[in-house]
Amino acid sequence: ARPIGVAVLGMGNVGTEVVRILTESADDIRSRVGAPVQVRGVAVRDAAKTRAGIDPALLTTDAAALVARDDVDIVVELVGGIEPARTLIRAALESGKSVITANKALMAVHAGELSEAAARHRVDLYFEAAVAGAIPVIRPLTQSLAGDSVNRVAGIVNGTTNYILSEMAETGADYHDVLAEAGRLGYAEADPTADVEGYDAAAKAAILASIAFHSRVTADDVHREGITDITPADLDAAAKFDCTVKLLAICERMTDADGAERISARVYPALIPLEHPLATVNGAFNAVVVESENAGRLMFYGQGAGGAPTAAAVMGDLVMAARNRVNGGRGPLESTYASLPIASIDEAQTRY
Ligand code: HSE
Repeated sequence: ARPIGVAVLGMGNVGTEVVRILTESADDIRSRVGAPVQVRGVAVRDAAKTRAGIDPALLTTDAAALVARDDVDIVVELVGGIEPARTLIRAALESGKSVITANKALMAVHAGELSEAAARHRVDLYFEAAVAGAIPVIRPLTQSLAGDSVNRVAGIVNGTTNYILSEMAETGADYHDVLAEAGRLGYAEADPTADVEGYDAAAKAAILASIAFHSRVTADDVHREGITDITPADLDAAAKFDCTVKLLAICERMTDADGAERISARVYPALIPLEHPLATVNGAFNAVVVESENAGRLMFYGQGAGGAPTAAAVMGDLVMAARNRVNGGRGPLESTYASLPIASIDEAQTRY
C-alpha cells in the first residue's frame, strides 16, 4: 500500500519520543498498519536548535504549510494551548486529514466543533494522550463501555501535582522545591500554573465527563481548586488521621429531586484514607476509577505524564488512524462529540 505521511507539530518531550518511536519501530508499525508510516516533517519554533536523532531536513517553522502538504495524511498536534493548535487542526480536518492530539486544554473547550469537522470530512480525530498520559481511558469509555451506563469517573489525572503531593508527604519537603524537580523530570507543563492551579486536571475532567456521560462538558463547567495552598503541615495533619491529600478530579451523573439529570465535575485537593486505592498512587502516576451500571467498578492505573508514556498513547492513536487510512474506514470515535447535547451542570453539587 502507499505510505502514510505524518506531520508532527511540536517537538517537546512528547514529540521527540513520537519521532523516536516512529523511527525505531518503523518495521513493526508498517506490519501493523499494512503500509509504511513516514514522517514528512516536524514543525518547531526554532529550526536552528540542534535535536538529537532527527534529520534536520525534516524541521520547519511553517506548521501551516506542513499541514497543507499533499503527502501528509495524518497530523499529530503536540503544540498545546488553544491557538495556533485549533486553527492548524481545523485546517487539517477540513483538508481531509486525520488528526491525533494530546491537547487537553483545546479538547476541553473545542472538542465539539473539531469533532463536527472530523465527522463532516469523514476523518479521524483521536485524543487518547490528552487524558492521563499512557493510561487508556478515552478508548475504554468511548468503546469498551459504549453499551453500558457510566455513573462516576474519579481519579488522579495530573502527574505533576501527584508527584508534588507524594514527595511532600514522603519527605516533608517544601512545595516550591518539589515543583522545580517536577519540571526537571519533564512532568510539569512549560507553565506549571496549569498543573498546580488545577486547570490541567479540570480540562481532563471536562473531557472525561463529556465522553462518560455523552454530554458536552467544557472546562468552565468544572469547579476547580489547585494545590498551591497545601503545606507540609497539612500533609502531617492528614497522616495523623491515616489519610493523605490527593488532587482528585470527580465527575458524576446525578438525578435531581425533580427527576432531571445533571452532571457534576470538580477538581480539588481531597483528604483520602490511606487504605483507599487512590492513596497508593504516587509520583507521576495517575489512576482513574470508573463506576458503571453493569460493568461495576473499573480501575485504570499507570504513567500519566512524561515523554515516552504519553507518546505511547499518541502512537496507539496513530496506528489506528493509519490503519483506517489504509482500509478506507473511520474510527469508532466519530460520534464522540459530534452529536452530543450540551450538559446540564449541577451548580449546587459542584463541591462536597
Ligand atoms: N502536566 C501534565 C501532568 C502532563 O502533570 O499530568 C500530562 O497531561
